[in-house]
Amino acid sequence: MRDYKTILFEERDGIGFVTINRPDAMNALNGDVLDELADVFAYIGSADAIRAAILTGTGKAFVAGADIAHMRTLAAAEGRDLIIKGQRVMALIENTDKPVIAAVNGYALGGGCELAMACDIRLASEKALFGQPEVNLGIIPGFGGTQRLPRLVGKGMAKYLIMSAETLRADEALRIGLVEKVLPPEQLLAEAEKLAKTIASKAPIAVKMAKLAINKGVSLDLDSAVAFEAEAFAGAFASDDRVEGMQAFLEKRPADFKNK
Ligand code: COA
Repeated sequence: MRDYKTILFEERDGIGFVTINRPDAMNALNGDVLDELADVFAYIGSADAIRAAILTGTGKAFVAGADIAHMRTLAAAEGRDLIIKGQRVMALIENTDKPVIAAVNGYALGGGCELAMACDIRLASEKALFGQPEVNLGIIPGFGGTQRLPRLVGKGMAKYLIMSAETLRADEALRIGLVEKVLPPEQLLAEAEKLAKTIASKAPIAVKMAKLAINKGVSLDLDSAVAFEAEAFAGAFASDDRVEGMQAFLEKRPADFKNK
């Protein structure tokens, strides 16, 4: 167990469980939360024993945004520094080799919606609420929201949500492609764990290469993207686990992947 102030971290059966734990402030992202998320996801990325991670929040919120009380005190240049720091944490989560599942238990507003979007897959509680309410505060989304939201839901819907600051229920978030599945609140974590274990049982290098190909490819033109896919495919094909996976299929037995 690592020693954190604002998050909880547990490692169990090859899964890293990260819980943002500032329920009195709706898990708002202050500097400490961002630092601790950076630390824990760097660890998750480097820990051989961890095959997948789950990110959730304590209480009524997943994360209700960047910490407004802290932001109110910042000078203009400090605002930019905060955004750059937050963007680095989102990129670290998005680019870690390990699959990261957001289990969105409640409010995912502003930086919380952006944090969920930096994860690979989003499962939402029926009680979750999503939105980018920054224009209510005289700012815009700055932890990647103006870029990841249109990539997930399209430019028109992203502009609608960001310019109107409208809040979406989980079923609406599902309809527009902002989340992948909606679950009753009491099933959310169990379902996230089940999905994490399913992914963790697959060939780890293949999972890593699939994540890389999708993440890098979406920002490239199609020819460059499929060329990148060929390299990622070759990376998986060169692994011992590819030989094991195919051999196991032919021998009609479960594969024993070694992450090699
Ligand atoms: N930053 C800092 N503190 C926050 C916060 C944030 N983003 N969101 C909530 N809090 C704090 C509140 O100030 C309040 O603190 P207090 O008890 O000291 O007064 C506490 O969390 C509980 O929030 P409260 O507003 O009383 O709860 P609620 O159930 O009535 O409403 C929300 C919940 C999430 C709808 C509401 O808190 C909210 O709109 N938060 C801001 C969302 C936002 O604009 N995010 C984008 C930030 S860029």
